[in-house]
Amino acid sequence: MNSALFHAARGRGRTSPNPTVGAVVVSPDGSVVGYGCTEKAGSRHAEVVALDMAGDRARGGTLYCTLEPCSHVGRTGPCVARIVESGIARVVASVGDPNPLVHGQGFAFLTAHGVGVEVGLGAARARALNQPFFTLVTEHRPFVILKAAISQDGCMAEAPGARTQLTSEAANRHAQRIRAEVDAIGVGVGTILVDDPLLTARGAYRERPLVRVIFDRTLRTPPGARVLSTPEAGPVMIVTNGAGAARAEVRRRLEDRGADIEVVEDGTLRSALRTLGDRQIGSFLLEGGPTLHQGAWDEGVVDFVRLYVTPHVLGSSGVRLLNGRPFSSAALVERRVHPLGPDVLIEGYVHGPH
Ligand SMILES: NC(=O)c1ccc[n+]([C@@H]2O[C@H](COP(=O)([O-])OP(=O)(O)OC[C@H]3O[C@@H](n4cnc5c(N)ncnc54)[C@H](OP(=O)(O)O)[C@@H]3O)[C@@H](O)[C@H]2O)c1
Repeated sequence: MNSALFHAARGRGRTSPNPTVGAVVVSPDGSVVGYGCTEKAGSRHAEVVALDMAGDRARGGTLYCTLEPCSHVGRTGPCVARIVESGIARVVASVGDPNPLVHGQGFAFLTAHGVGVEVGLGAARARALNQPFFTLVTEHRPFVILKAAISQDGCMAEAPGARTQLTSEAANRHAQRIRAEVDAIGVGVGTILVDDPLLTARGAYRERPLVRVIFDRTLRTPPGARVLSTPEAGPVMIVTNGAGAARAEVRRRLEDRGADIEVVEDGTLRSALRTLGDRQIGSFLLEGGPTLHQGAWDEGVVDFVRLYVTPHVLGSSGVRLLNGRPFSSAALVERRVHPLGPDVLIEGYVHGPH
Protein backbone atom coordinates (compact mmCIF):
# COMPACT_ATOMS: atom_id res chain seq x y z
CA MET A 1 0.00 0.00 0.00
CA ASN A 2 2.94 2.33 0.60
CA SER A 3 3.85 1.84 -3.01
CA ALA A 4 0.25 2.49 -4.16
CA LEU A 5 0.23 5.70 -2.09
CA PHE A 6 3.50 6.73 -3.69
CA HIS A 7 1.94 6.29 -7.14
CA ALA A 8 -1.20 8.18 -6.07
CA ALA A 9 0.97 11.13 -5.02
CA ARG A 10 2.45 11.24 -8.54
CA GLY A 11 -0.95 12.25 -9.89
CA ARG A 12 -1.44 15.15 -7.47
CA GLY A 13 -2.67 18.25 -9.28
CA ARG A 14 -3.25 16.41 -12.58
CA THR A 15 -6.48 14.45 -12.22
CA SER A 16 -9.00 17.06 -11.02
CA PRO A 17 -11.96 16.92 -10.70
CA ASN A 18 -11.23 13.20 -10.33
CA PRO A 19 -9.28 11.88 -7.34
CA THR A 20 -5.66 10.90 -7.66
CA VAL A 21 -5.40 7.16 -7.08
CA GLY A 22 -2.52 4.70 -6.98
CA ALA A 23 -2.68 0.93 -7.55
CA VAL A 24 -0.28 -1.99 -7.29
CA VAL A 25 -0.85 -5.60 -8.43
CA VAL A 26 0.95 -8.36 -6.55
CA SER A 27 0.98 -11.84 -8.09
CA PRO A 28 0.28 -14.97 -5.97
CA ASP A 29 4.04 -15.55 -5.54
CA GLY A 30 4.44 -12.09 -3.98
CA SER A 31 5.99 -10.24 -6.94
CA VAL A 32 4.89 -6.74 -7.91
CA VAL A 33 3.67 -7.23 -11.49
CA GLY A 34 1.85 -3.96 -12.13
CA TYR A 35 1.49 -0.44 -10.80
CA GLY A 36 0.14 2.91 -11.87
CA CYS A 37 -1.60 6.13 -11.01
CA THR A 38 -4.73 7.74 -12.41
CA GLU A 39 -4.09 9.45 -15.69
CA LYS A 40 -5.60 12.85 -16.39
CA ALA A 41 -9.42 13.15 -16.33
CA GLY A 42 -11.03 10.99 -19.03
CA SER A 43 -8.06 8.60 -19.37
CA ARG A 44 -7.29 5.31 -17.62
CA HIS A 45 -7.83 4.86 -13.89
CA ALA A 46 -4.93 3.61 -11.74
CA GLU A 47 -6.40 0.11 -11.37
CA VAL A 48 -6.59 -0.31 -15.15
CA VAL A 49 -3.05 1.03 -15.66
CA ALA A 50 -1.74 -1.50 -13.11
CA LEU A 51 -3.80 -4.40 -14.53
CA ASP A 52 -2.75 -3.58 -18.11
CA MET A 53 0.87 -3.84 -16.98
CA ALA A 54 0.29 -7.07 -15.05
CA GLY A 55 -1.61 -8.90 -17.83
CA ASP A 56 -2.13 -12.59 -17.02
CA ARG A 57 0.18 -12.39 -14.02
CA ALA A 58 -2.67 -10.68 -12.11
CA ARG A 59 -4.66 -13.94 -11.98
CA GLY A 60 -5.08 -15.07 -8.35
CA GLY A 61 -3.21 -12.00 -7.11
CA THR A 62 -3.96 -8.98 -4.91
CA LEU A 63 -4.75 -5.47 -6.06
CA TYR A 64 -3.81 -2.70 -3.63
CA CYS A 65 -5.56 0.59 -4.39
CA THR A 66 -5.88 3.86 -2.52
CA LEU A 67 -9.60 4.37 -3.24
CA GLU A 68 -12.62 2.12 -3.79
CA PRO A 69 -12.59 1.02 -7.46
CA CYS A 70 -15.36 2.67 -9.48
CA SER A 71 -18.50 0.78 -10.40
CA HIS A 72 -20.09 3.24 -12.82
CA VAL A 73 -19.48 4.14 -16.43
CA GLY A 74 -18.16 7.69 -16.47
CA ARG A 75 -15.64 8.92 -18.98
CA THR A 76 -14.05 5.46 -18.65
CA GLY A 77 -15.56 2.00 -18.04
CA PRO A 78 -16.10 0.59 -14.54
CA CYS A 79 -12.88 -0.63 -12.92
CA VAL A 80 -14.65 -3.34 -10.92
CA ALA A 81 -15.66 -5.26 -14.07
CA ARG A 82 -12.07 -5.10 -15.27
CA ILE A 83 -10.79 -6.35 -11.88
CA VAL A 84 -13.15 -9.35 -11.93
CA GLU A 85 -12.19 -10.13 -15.53
CA SER A 86 -8.47 -10.04 -14.67
CA GLY A 87 -8.87 -12.87 -12.12
CA ILE A 88 -7.69 -10.80 -9.13
CA ALA A 89 -8.54 -12.74 -5.94
CA ARG A 90 -8.34 -9.96 -3.35
CA VAL A 91 -8.64 -6.17 -3.31
CA VAL A 92 -7.12 -4.12 -0.48
CA ALA A 93 -8.36 -0.51 -0.60
CA SER A 94 -7.54 2.44 1.65
CA VAL A 95 -10.89 4.25 1.64
CA GLY A 96 -14.39 4.10 0.20
CA ASP A 97 -15.39 6.50 -2.56
CA PRO A 98 -17.89 9.13 -1.28
CA ASN A 99 -19.15 9.77 -4.82
CA PRO A 100 -22.85 8.72 -4.68
CA LEU A 101 -22.34 6.89 -8.00
CA VAL A 102 -19.87 4.54 -6.28
CA HIS A 103 -20.20 4.75 -2.46
CA GLY A 104 -19.84 1.10 -1.50
CA GLN A 105 -21.19 -0.28 -4.77
CA GLY A 106 -17.67 -0.94 -6.03
CA PHE A 107 -16.91 -3.13 -3.01
CA ALA A 108 -20.35 -4.79 -3.22
CA PHE A 109 -19.79 -5.71 -6.89
CA LEU A 110 -16.40 -7.23 -6.11
CA THR A 111 -17.73 -9.25 -3.15
CA ALA A 112 -20.69 -10.46 -5.22
CA HIS A 113 -18.21 -11.74 -7.82
CA GLY A 114 -16.11 -13.67 -5.29
CA VAL A 115 -13.29 -11.15 -4.87
CA GLY A 116 -12.10 -10.70 -1.25
CA VAL A 117 -12.23 -7.05 -0.09
CA GLU A 118 -10.37 -5.37 2.77
CA VAL A 119 -10.73 -1.63 3.47
CA GLY A 120 -8.75 0.79 5.66
CA LEU A 121 -5.05 0.20 5.05
CA GLY A 122 -3.33 3.61 4.63
CA ALA A 123 -6.67 5.43 5.01
CA ALA A 124 -5.33 8.65 6.58
CA ARG A 125 -2.68 9.14 3.91
CA ALA A 126 -5.11 8.33 1.10
CA ARG A 127 -7.64 10.86 2.41
CA ALA A 128 -4.94 13.53 2.81
CA LEU A 129 -3.96 13.13 -0.84
CA ASN A 130 -7.53 13.68 -2.00
CA GLN A 131 -8.86 16.47 0.23
CA PRO A 132 -10.06 18.49 -2.80
CA PHE A 133 -11.97 15.50 -4.18
CA PHE A 134 -13.57 14.60 -0.82
CA THR A 135 -14.58 18.25 -0.19
CA LEU A 136 -16.01 18.75 -3.67
CA VAL A 137 -18.01 15.51 -3.61
CA THR A 138 -19.36 15.84 -0.07
CA GLU A 139 -19.77 19.64 0.23
CA HIS A 140 -20.02 20.82 -3.41
CA ARG A 141 -17.34 23.45 -2.84
CA PRO A 142 -13.56 23.51 -3.14
CA PHE A 143 -11.06 22.74 -0.37
CA VAL A 144 -9.83 26.20 0.69
CA ILE A 145 -6.17 26.79 1.50
CA LEU A 146 -5.37 30.17 3.07
CA LYS A 147 -1.85 31.11 2.08
CA ALA A 148 0.11 34.09 3.40
CA ALA A 149 3.64 35.33 3.79
CA ILE A 150 4.07 36.90 7.20
CA SER A 151 6.85 38.62 9.06
CA GLN A 152 8.19 37.26 12.33
CA ASP A 153 5.76 39.60 14.10
CA GLY A 154 2.75 38.32 12.13
CA CYS A 155 2.26 41.05 9.49
CA MET A 156 1.43 40.63 5.80
CA ALA A 157 2.45 44.13 4.66
CA GLU A 158 4.52 47.03 5.95
CA ALA A 159 1.51 49.37 5.99
CA PRO A 160 -1.96 49.41 4.39
CA GLY A 161 -1.50 49.54 0.61
CA ALA A 162 2.29 49.11 0.73
CA ARG A 163 3.79 46.54 -1.63
CA THR A 164 5.98 44.39 0.62
CA GLN A 165 8.26 41.57 -0.58
CA LEU A 166 8.77 39.19 2.33
CA THR A 167 9.65 35.70 1.10
CA SER A 168 12.98 34.28 -0.07
CA GLU A 169 13.66 32.56 -3.42
CA ALA A 170 13.25 29.15 -1.77
CA ALA A 171 9.81 30.06 -0.39
CA ASN A 172 8.77 31.62 -3.71
CA ARG A 173 9.69 28.42 -5.56
CA HIS A 174 7.65 26.39 -3.11
CA ALA A 175 4.67 28.75 -3.53
CA GLN A 176 4.88 28.42 -7.32
CA ARG A 177 4.87 24.62 -7.05
CA ILE A 178 1.71 24.82 -4.93
CA ARG A 179 0.09 27.11 -7.52
CA ALA A 180 0.90 24.49 -10.13
CA GLU A 181 -1.08 21.85 -8.17
CA VAL A 182 -4.35 23.64 -7.36
CA ASP A 183 -7.38 24.16 -9.60
CA ALA A 184 -7.76 27.87 -8.84
CA ILE A 185 -6.20 30.74 -6.93
CA GLY A 186 -7.94 33.81 -5.54
CA VAL A 187 -7.03 37.32 -4.41
CA GLY A 188 -8.92 40.39 -3.27
CA VAL A 189 -9.12 43.45 -5.49
CA GLY A 190 -6.86 45.30 -3.00
CA THR A 191 -3.97 43.02 -3.98
CA ILE A 192 -4.66 43.61 -7.68
CA LEU A 193 -4.56 47.38 -7.10
CA VAL A 194 -1.35 47.33 -5.03
CA ASP A 195 0.73 44.42 -6.41
CA ASP A 196 -0.77 43.98 -9.91
CA PRO A 197 0.21 40.26 -9.86
CA LEU A 198 0.22 37.94 -12.90
CA LEU A 199 -1.22 35.04 -10.85
CA THR A 200 0.43 32.41 -13.04
CA ALA A 201 2.41 29.30 -12.00
CA ARG A 202 5.98 30.07 -12.98
CA GLY A 203 8.98 27.74 -12.98
CA ALA A 204 6.75 24.75 -12.18
CA TYR A 205 5.19 22.24 -14.56
CA ARG A 206 1.45 22.60 -15.00
CA GLU A 207 -0.53 20.91 -17.76
CA ARG A 208 -3.97 22.45 -17.11
CA PRO A 209 -5.19 26.06 -17.24
CA LEU A 210 -5.18 27.77 -13.83
CA VAL A 211 -8.42 29.59 -12.93
CA ARG A 212 -7.61 33.00 -11.41
CA VAL A 213 -10.35 34.55 -9.24
CA ILE A 214 -10.56 38.19 -8.11
CA PHE A 215 -13.00 39.11 -5.32
CA ASP A 216 -14.20 42.55 -6.26
CA ARG A 217 -17.68 43.61 -5.13
CA THR A 218 -17.53 47.07 -6.71
CA LEU A 219 -15.57 46.25 -9.89
CA ARG A 220 -12.44 48.23 -9.08
CA THR A 221 -10.18 45.89 -11.09
CA PRO A 222 -8.47 48.04 -13.72
CA PRO A 223 -9.01 46.69 -17.27
CA GLY A 224 -5.23 47.13 -17.70
CA ALA A 225 -4.43 44.73 -14.79
CA ARG A 226 -1.55 42.42 -15.72
CA VAL A 227 -3.53 39.30 -14.84
CA LEU A 228 -5.84 40.07 -17.78
CA SER A 229 -2.88 40.01 -20.15
CA THR A 230 -2.20 36.29 -19.55
CA PRO A 231 -5.25 34.47 -20.99
CA GLU A 232 -2.99 31.58 -22.06
CA ALA A 233 -2.46 30.74 -18.35
CA GLY A 234 -6.19 30.25 -17.74
CA PRO A 235 -9.49 32.09 -17.30
CA VAL A 236 -9.84 35.12 -15.03
CA MET A 237 -13.07 35.25 -13.04
CA ILE A 238 -14.12 38.41 -11.24
CA VAL A 239 -16.59 37.72 -8.45
CA THR A 240 -18.80 40.71 -7.80
CA ASN A 241 -22.29 41.43 -6.49
CA GLY A 242 -25.32 43.23 -7.92
CA ALA A 243 -23.86 46.69 -7.33
CA GLY A 244 -20.65 45.84 -9.19
CA ALA A 245 -22.51 44.15 -12.02
CA ALA A 246 -24.69 47.25 -12.44
CA ARG A 247 -21.63 49.26 -13.47
CA ALA A 248 -22.29 48.34 -17.08
CA GLU A 249 -19.50 50.32 -18.73
CA VAL A 250 -16.76 49.02 -16.38
CA ARG A 251 -18.14 45.52 -16.71
CA ARG A 252 -18.06 45.74 -20.51
CA ARG A 253 -14.43 46.93 -20.49
CA LEU A 254 -13.39 44.07 -18.22
CA GLU A 255 -15.28 41.54 -20.35
CA ASP A 256 -13.60 42.96 -23.46
CA ARG A 257 -10.31 42.08 -21.77
CA GLY A 258 -11.51 38.49 -21.38
CA ALA A 259 -12.70 38.61 -17.74
CA ASP A 260 -15.55 36.35 -16.80
CA ILE A 261 -17.80 38.38 -14.45
CA GLU A 262 -19.55 36.16 -11.92
CA VAL A 263 -22.34 37.81 -9.95
CA VAL A 264 -22.87 36.48 -6.42
CA GLU A 265 -25.85 38.42 -5.12
CA ASP A 266 -25.24 38.07 -1.39
CA GLY A 267 -21.51 38.88 -1.80
CA THR A 268 -20.44 36.07 0.55
CA LEU A 269 -17.42 33.89 -0.01
CA ARG A 270 -19.52 30.86 0.85
CA SER A 271 -21.80 31.50 -2.14
CA ALA A 272 -18.80 32.25 -4.35
CA LEU A 273 -17.27 28.91 -3.34
CA ARG A 274 -20.46 27.08 -4.32
CA THR A 275 -20.17 28.70 -7.75
CA LEU A 276 -16.59 27.45 -7.98
CA GLY A 277 -17.82 23.99 -6.93
CA ASP A 278 -20.37 24.07 -9.78
CA ARG A 279 -17.37 24.54 -12.07
CA GLN A 280 -15.72 21.42 -10.62
CA ILE A 281 -12.97 23.41 -8.87
CA GLY A 282 -11.76 21.10 -6.10
CA SER A 283 -8.80 23.01 -4.66
CA PHE A 284 -8.68 26.76 -4.13
CA LEU A 285 -5.63 28.66 -2.94
CA LEU A 286 -6.61 31.94 -1.31
CA GLU A 287 -3.56 34.16 -1.62
CA GLY A 288 -4.80 37.26 0.22
CA GLY A 289 -4.46 40.05 1.00
CA PRO A 290 -5.30 40.56 4.63
CA THR A 291 -8.84 41.92 4.15
CA LEU A 292 -9.89 38.94 2.03
CA HIS A 293 -8.26 36.52 4.50
CA GLN A 294 -10.13 38.13 7.38
CA GLY A 295 -13.40 37.81 5.45
CA ALA A 296 -12.71 34.14 4.73
CA TRP A 297 -11.79 33.46 8.36
CA ASP A 298 -14.93 35.22 9.64
CA GLU A 299 -17.13 33.16 7.31
CA GLY A 300 -15.43 29.96 8.53
CA VAL A 301 -14.60 28.74 5.03
CA VAL A 302 -10.86 28.08 5.51
CA ASP A 303 -9.90 24.38 5.57
CA PHE A 304 -6.12 24.58 5.61
CA VAL A 305 -3.56 27.29 6.45
CA ARG A 306 -0.15 27.60 4.84
CA LEU A 307 2.09 30.33 6.27
CA TYR A 308 5.53 31.34 5.06
CA VAL A 309 7.09 32.99 8.11
CA THR A 310 10.03 35.23 7.23
CA PRO A 311 12.71 36.78 9.46
CA HIS A 312 11.46 40.36 8.84
CA VAL A 313 10.02 42.48 11.63
CA LEU A 314 7.46 45.00 10.33
CA GLY A 315 6.56 46.66 13.61
CA SER A 316 3.45 48.43 14.78
CA SER A 317 2.52 49.99 11.41
CA GLY A 318 2.36 46.51 9.80
CA VAL A 319 -0.91 44.97 8.57
CA ARG A 320 -1.57 41.94 10.72
CA LEU A 321 -2.70 38.56 9.43
CA LEU A 322 -6.30 38.06 10.65
CA ASN A 323 -6.01 41.33 12.60
CA GLY A 324 -6.40 40.16 16.17
CA ARG A 325 -8.82 37.29 15.49
CA PRO A 326 -8.16 34.29 17.70
CA PHE A 327 -5.66 32.27 15.69
CA SER A 328 -2.49 30.44 16.57
CA SER A 329 -0.48 28.42 14.08
CA ALA A 330 0.31 26.08 17.00
CA ALA A 331 -3.37 25.03 17.02
CA LEU A 332 -3.36 23.81 13.40
CA VAL A 333 -4.25 20.12 13.13
CA GLU A 334 -1.59 17.75 11.73
CA ARG A 335 0.72 20.74 11.74
CA ARG A 336 3.93 20.50 9.72
CA VAL A 337 6.92 22.84 9.81
CA HIS A 338 9.60 22.98 7.08
CA PRO A 339 12.56 25.32 6.72
CA LEU A 340 12.71 27.02 3.30
CA GLY A 341 15.97 28.93 3.07
CA PRO A 342 15.74 31.70 5.70
CA ASP A 343 11.94 31.26 5.94
CA VAL A 344 9.83 28.65 7.70
CA LEU A 345 6.70 27.09 6.27
CA ILE A 346 4.01 26.24 8.83
CA GLU A 347 0.94 24.43 7.56
CA GLY A 348 -1.98 22.42 8.85
CA TYR A 349 -5.74 21.91 8.88
CA VAL A 350 -8.03 24.34 10.67
CA HIS A 351 -10.33 21.56 11.92
CA GLY A 352 -8.83 18.36 10.50
CA PRO A 353 -9.10 16.48 7.22
CA HIS A 354 -12.46 15.75 5.56
N1 LIG B 1 1.99 38.83 2.58
C1 LIG B 1 1.14 38.26 1.76
O1 LIG B 1 1.04 37.04 1.67
C2 LIG B 1 0.27 39.13 0.88
C3 LIG B 1 -0.57 38.54 -0.08
C4 LIG B 1 -1.39 39.35 -0.83
C5 LIG B 1 -1.37 40.73 -0.61
N2 LIG B 1 -0.54 41.27 0.31
C6 LIG B 1 -0.53 42.71 0.58
O2 LIG B 1 -1.81 43.05 1.06
C7 LIG B 1 -2.10 44.40 0.69
C8 LIG B 1 -3.47 44.47 0.08
O3 LIG B 1 -4.38 44.03 1.05
P1 LIG B 1 -5.88 44.46 1.13
O4 LIG B 1 -6.37 43.94 2.43
O5 LIG B 1 -5.98 45.89 0.83
O6 LIG B 1 -6.47 43.73 -0.12
P2 LIG B 1 -7.18 42.34 -0.43
O7 LIG B 1 -7.44 41.57 0.78
O8 LIG B 1 -6.43 41.73 -1.54
O9 LIG B 1 -8.53 42.87 -1.05
C9 LIG B 1 -9.48 43.43 -0.22
C10 LIG B 1 -10.73 43.76 -0.98
O10 LIG B 1 -11.32 42.57 -1.48
C11 LIG B 1 -12.69 42.84 -1.69
N3 LIG B 1 -13.54 41.74 -1.25
C12 LIG B 1 -14.45 41.10 -2.03
N4 LIG B 1 -15.08 40.17 -1.35
C13 LIG B 1 -14.60 40.20 -0.10
C14 LIG B 1 -14.89 39.48 1.07
N5 LIG B 1 -15.84 38.53 1.09
N6 LIG B 1 -14.21 39.77 2.20
C15 LIG B 1 -13.26 40.72 2.19
N7 LIG B 1 -12.93 41.45 1.10
C16 LIG B 1 -13.61 41.20 -0.04
C17 LIG B 1 -13.01 44.09 -0.87
O11 LIG B 1 -13.24 45.14 -1.79
P3 LIG B 1 -14.74 45.40 -2.26
O12 LIG B 1 -15.55 45.61 -1.02
O13 LIG B 1 -14.63 46.58 -3.14
O14 LIG B 1 -15.15 44.17 -2.97
C18 LIG B 1 -11.77 44.38 -0.10
O15 LIG B 1 -11.53 45.75 0.09
C19 LIG B 1 -0.99 44.85 -0.22
O16 LIG B 1 -0.09 45.60 0.53
C20 LIG B 1 -0.34 43.56 -0.65
O17 LIG B 1 1.01 43.73 -0.98
C21 LIG B 1 0.26 40.49 1.08
